[in-house]
Amino acid sequence: MIRFALFGAGFIGKVHAKNIHNHPNAKLTHVYDVNVEAAQQLSAQVGATVVANPDDIFASADVDAVAICSSTNTHSDLLAAAIRANKPIFCEKPIDLNIERVKAVATLLKGKDLPVVMGFSRRFDADYAEAQRRYRAGEIGKLEILQLTARGPKPPAISYVKVSGGQLRDQTIHYFDLAAWIAGEAPTEVYTSGACLVDPAIGEAGDIDTALVMMKLPSGALVQIDNSRRAAYGYDERIEIFASEGMLEAGRKQLSDVRKYVNGRVESAAMHAGWFERIEVSFGTFIDAFVRSLHGEAITMPTFWDGLRAQQMAEAAYQSLQTNQPVKVDYWLP
Ligand SMILES: NC(=O)c1ccc[n+]([C@@H]2O[C@H](COP(=O)([O-])OP(=O)(O)OC[C@H]3O[C@@H](n4cnc5c(N)ncnc54)[C@H](O)[C@@H]3O)[C@@H](O)[C@H]2O)c1
Repeated sequence: MIRFALFGAGFIGKVHAKNIHNHPNAKLTHVYDVNVEAAQQLSAQVGATVVANPDDIFASADVDAVAICSSTNTHSDLLAAAIRANKPIFCEKPIDLNIERVKAVATLLKGKDLPVVMGFSRRFDADYAEAQRRYRAGEIGKLEILQLTARGPKPPAISYVKVSGGQLRDQTIHYFDLAAWIAGEAPTEVYTSGACLVDPAIGEAGDIDTALVMMKLPSGALVQIDNSRRAAYGYDERIEIFASEGMLEAGRKQLSDVRKYVNGRVESAAMHAGWFERIEVSFGTFIDAFVRSLHGEAITMPTFWDGLRAQQMAEAAYQSLQTNQPVKVDYWLP
């Protein structure tokens, strides 16, 4: 039984709390949030203890692993404390808003044999995992174009935008990770074109809401990511792996695959209302994989080092956005 302590009882903290609580080999025992009321409400639902001082979690022999699900600007400090306490970590993406703080955590983690898993939930979508596995097994030959699309459905609250690190670090980071995970190689060059087309308040907050990112891989293959914070028709996410002998597609998902054909029209189900509804199942699969890996099963998890790689793509993508030039991606390691 893995006894978890959770940091952050906000939106995603509640999702992970539920999946840990429902897992037969895991238990949520402690919750800490600076918003004590949020911690109390969540703890009451899962039978956990509210902790007043986060240091008590790191010092406790009754905590086997921590889940860091608080706001992004708190991740580095919590990661550092958990690494010093030698507690296995599940940490939500991205590692931090600031690359220097990310590097400081990397330096601390270097050489330690501690599981530190990053919340790249898309890897646990059954269709994406199958597409990745079949491409890597050689079913369609050599990669030429990897197309990753994620749109909508509506922009997050401005309060979230301001602490998110910006669209490329917050949303696109999932697809930076997917690109390297699917291709099996990390991009060496990135060019970004961005715009604020959805909500002027996002532009006033210094962010973009529409992004096209083009990347080159060492093999010569190309990656294109298109992200929008809005899609007027619901949440739209899909992947195409286009290669020398064919294509693997993990297509856009609708609420149902049933279509009605009548005279003059074809009716099909709507798209999912939001990103969460689209990938909700993958969060449970992810926690299950993490728990099983802590129990010794050999499962490839997205690691801190994958998070560092994705974050360095995001930094280069921002540099490209600002300079309007392609930028080489340097992968710094401690
Ligand atoms: N993997 C995914 O698909 C995914 C989806 C959503 C969010 N996220 C990530 O999860 C994190 C949280 O996002 P959210 O949507 O749940 O935000 P949220 O604002 O709903 O919740 C954040 C919570 O953290 C708490 N908090 C702030 N400082 C804290 C601290 N020092 N210690 C403990 N708790 C603290 C806040 O009080 C709040 O309850 C972000 O890093 C975000 O990027 C990942």
